[in-house]
Amino acid sequence: MSKFFLFLSVCRLSFLGALEHELESFAREKYSSKGKEEYRQYTEETSLPVKEFYKANHTRQTVDFVQKQREIYSSLSHAKMGVWEAMQLLDTIVDESDPDLNLTQTVHAFQTAEAIRRDGHPRWFILVGLIHDLGKLLTSFKEPQWAVVGDTFPVGCRFSNRVVFPEYFQENPDFHNPDYQTECGIYTSHCGFDALLMSWGHDEYLYQVIKDYLPEEASYVIRYHSFYAAHREGAYTHLMNDYDQKMLPWLQLFSQYDLYSKVNESLDVDELKPFYEELVKEYFPHSIDW
Ligand SMILES: [Fe+2]
Ligand SMILES: [Fe+2]
Repeated sequence: MSKFFLFLSVCRLSFLGALEHELESFAREKYSSKGKEEYRQYTEETSLPVKEFYKANHTRQTVDFVQKQREIYSSLSHAKMGVWEAMQLLDTIVDESDPDLNLTQTVHAFQTAEAIRRDGHPRWFILVGLIHDLGKLLTSFKEPQWAVVGDTFPVGCRFSNRVVFPEYFQENPDFHNPDYQTECGIYTSHCGFDALLMSWGHDEYLYQVIKDYLPEEASYVIRYHSFYAAHREGAYTHLMNDYDQKMLPWLQLFSQYDLYSKVNESLDVDELKPFYEELVKEYFPHSIDW
């Protein structure tokens, strides 16, 4: 290796080291006494409701189900309301799949957005922090939690072992369909995530709602923020294309805020509201289709 490349590698390693260190202190000092390794613990010790949730989710998310849900919701004919109205609806929802948060979704929305804002990121990224989970209002359309929250994964191809609780896939009817259980299944190699049928939930639904209003990076983060097997565990690279590779860093950065800003302490929402009202107005009309 030439001295120049060696120098570059050292710079890169120290940059990554510094970033890692920054994220570690982000997790430990700024927002919580909890270390990064204590979040997202999906083991034998995980609480029964979270395990039951994933059992239902992994058993019932099939190609047929996803296609049906996409058809039902892509019409965006379920409600007309503004983003603030949607935020209020969200306040009644507690995410049953989340072992790290017992606060309301509104608190989580503001905590995520504020953490992003404090670090000086672009305005669209702060807005993503605020609205990224608004799709969870699917529960107010009587959708069960297993069809709204939790990590997402593609259906129609082999389920990865890097999805949480992969053992529960054995009871999914698609697990026994050989067409859906090859590495690429119904897709082609490096087709890109946008060509996949992702398990149905709040990511895909909100993407459909906001895609005409936000920059493409924002839409991408919203659409795949629960795809932890890909952005955290490095699975499904055989289905990624160049566009996904380009967008992945945004997804990974967002995930740090989504996860590590979860602390059991509330914010003064009234005080924050004027800034966020302005921000929402910058991108969205008074009312949008849901
Ligand atoms: Fe989410
Ligand atoms: Fe979230």
